[in-house]
Amino acid sequence: MKNFELKKYMNMKSSHITLKGRITLLLMLTVLIVSSCDRSRMDRGYDYFPDMFNSAAYKTYSEHPVLPDGQIMQEAPEGTIPIGFVPYPYDNSFESRELAGKELTNPFEVNNELIAEGKAKYEIFCMHCHGVDGKGDGILYTSGKFLVKPATLVEGDILEKPSGEIFHVITKGWGTMAAHEVLVKPEDRWKIVMYIEEVLRKQK
Ligand code: HEC
Repeated sequence: MKNFELKKYMNMKSSHITLKGRITLLLMLTVLIVSSCDRSRMDRGYDYFPDMFNSAAYKTYSEHPVLPDGQIMQEAPEGTIPIGFVPYPYDNSFESRELAGKELTNPFEVNNELIAEGKAKYEIFCMHCHGVDGKGDGILYTSGKFLVKPATLVEGDILEKPSGEIFHVITKGWGTMAAHEVLVKPEDRWKIVMYIEEVLRKQK
């Protein structure tokens, strides 16, 4: 279609609506736009399709007509513990470390799969301080960012210590080393212990 023909065609189309009709359309549109403005900021207005947005359940932080304090969130009853959480009875004192060493033993039998998992966890949580070989020469120390020399895990007195002590030190920390209780799961701590004892200590 040639350009002037197209123009003619379009003119023809729009001229179908009279001026009166156009004004009416414009008015209707204005009324629609203005009436769709909200009166109050707090009012969401008309929901066309709310799906399951408005649930029947109470929201965590909302009020409740019956529960104590009139709130949904209640404190856990005394003496309860979260599912899967095992209370740890030893504090971070010297005596507790010794006691933990006597009382705790690795619940896992040594096998290659667990050692591999222990290695992976060691590389995430310990290697930057205690070093690739466990000699206390991790990058945080050698780069001067961490000022206290991390203990060696593969030489000297520590070799005489029972597995439970390593588990305990990971859990509660030791001296300048922070507790890893909330970072490393108990079973992963034992796998790390296994990796230290079975691999790091046995390599020359
Ligand atoms: C931020 C650095 C850092 C990290 C991470 C770290 N440690 Fe330590 N660790 C230390 C330092 C420093 C010491 C020595 C503390 C002291 O004697 O005051 C230490 C001490 C220890 C000891 C006691 C050694 C002894 O002779 O009594 C053990 C066992 C140990 N760490 C194991 C681990 C394991 C396993 C991990 C990983 C889960 C780990 N550490 C993560 C810095 C770290």
